[in-house]
Amino acid sequence: MLKKLIGMGKISKLLSHPASATLTAMHVGAPTAADVVPSAQDALAALIRRQQDGWSLEAPFYLDPEIFRRDVAALFGRRWLFAGHSCELAEAGDFVTRQIAGESIILARGSDRSLHAHVNVCRHRASRVCLGERGRVRAFTCPYHGWTYGLDGKLTHDIAEHGVDARDMSLHRVALAEVAGLLFVNLAAEPASFEPARQAIEPGTAPHGLADAKIAYTVDYRVGANWKVIFENNRECYHCAGTHKEYVRANYDVDVSLGRNGAAIAARMAECSARWQRMGLTPAAAQSDMTGSWYRCNRAPLAPGFVTESLDGQPVGPLMGRITEPDAGTLRVTTFPNFWMHASSDHAVTTRLTPVAPDETDVTVCWLVAGGAVEGRDYGFERLTPFWKLTSEQDWALCESVQAGVGSSRYRPGPLSRQRERNVQGFISWYLRELATP
Ligand code: FES
Ligand SMILES: [Fe+2]
Repeated sequence: MLKKLIGMGKISKLLSHPASATLTAMHVGAPTAADVVPSAQDALAALIRRQQDGWSLEAPFYLDPEIFRRDVAALFGRRWLFAGHSCELAEAGDFVTRQIAGESIILARGSDRSLHAHVNVCRHRASRVCLGERGRVRAFTCPYHGWTYGLDGKLTHDIAEHGVDARDMSLHRVALAEVAGLLFVNLAAEPASFEPARQAIEPGTAPHGLADAKIAYTVDYRVGANWKVIFENNRECYHCAGTHKEYVRANYDVDVSLGRNGAAIAARMAECSARWQRMGLTPAAAQSDMTGSWYRCNRAPLAPGFVTESLDGQPVGPLMGRITEPDAGTLRVTTFPNFWMHASSDHAVTTRLTPVAPDETDVTVCWLVAGGAVEGRDYGFERLTPFWKLTSEQDWALCESVQAGVGSSRYRPGPLSRQRERNVQGFISWYLRELATP
């Protein structure tokens, strides 16, 4: 698997915004360990109340360290987060560690092949138990004093002399859900049910065979923008015509958002739907709206001449999973707050966001191909990766430009297009509801 780390033009200086004082500046007295100090909570509530429907967010939502801390605690700390692919844990003993919501999390496959997620903190005196990013082990042995944990998180070390029951000293468990090869974790003590999302995602995604796929290529980006700037950008294609010439050639998004070429698109959808249902795939959907409050999964037809999201529209790898014909359109899966995916018949591309700072987000983009595919024989990076590498990097540049703009003393929220940016409004409404929930 190839992996690249790319830092975009990071915005290093967080500018103050005199028009709307930051919550941090509104703190009274010394900072406390509480989630948000009372004065800051009041200021946040006022800010949420002041936010007008149909307008972009006020500057502190993109800049303020206290709101950022609350984003991580309130959203990333208690909602289902995409964490990786089950094909990364193909064999018993395989593990990966991921930085999620400020925690190091170990994802592992046990000897009975079940999947586990645990906080990577030793129950003795808090050392990291696992220092690697990935590997295959029989057990995790803490490097500090040698306590050993099974892949299921149970302490197997003899600690009789400590005077406590080893059964009470398992690694802290994190809720884990696997759906069609995608892994989601939830750090909340009592996570909300994942089932509604599973029911929405599984039927469309399962035929793509992601559980038995291979990660062919990964790029880690550090984007100089708030995570919400990046998700807002993802939720509209108003910018596509001017920015994404490769994407626009392959997709109908611009036409759909403008209500253009309705008859031709409807005919293409009907033709694709009939064919896809014969192939055992979900039918075509024209809109990219979320189907649940925080998730969606829909399959869109590609423009005529394109059977996959490659530069020339032609296949870039063998068919995946149970897909029997090259044109399976583009399956789009999105979950707030950190994930989206486009999957064609021959490859899938997943994007995972990890907030780092108010003005910085780590973004991991993975290209998956069929499990048995061999690089050089069945696929090549020069055909597999450019479509989403170009499209992603075009977006990161836009997002960094927006982050610089919201830091301007002259920034004020701008009006959203009711049609073309209604999904941005959907994201903002979801975000504000989550933030306002105690
Ligand atoms: S901190 Fe892990 S064994 Fe002591
Ligand atoms: Fe874009």
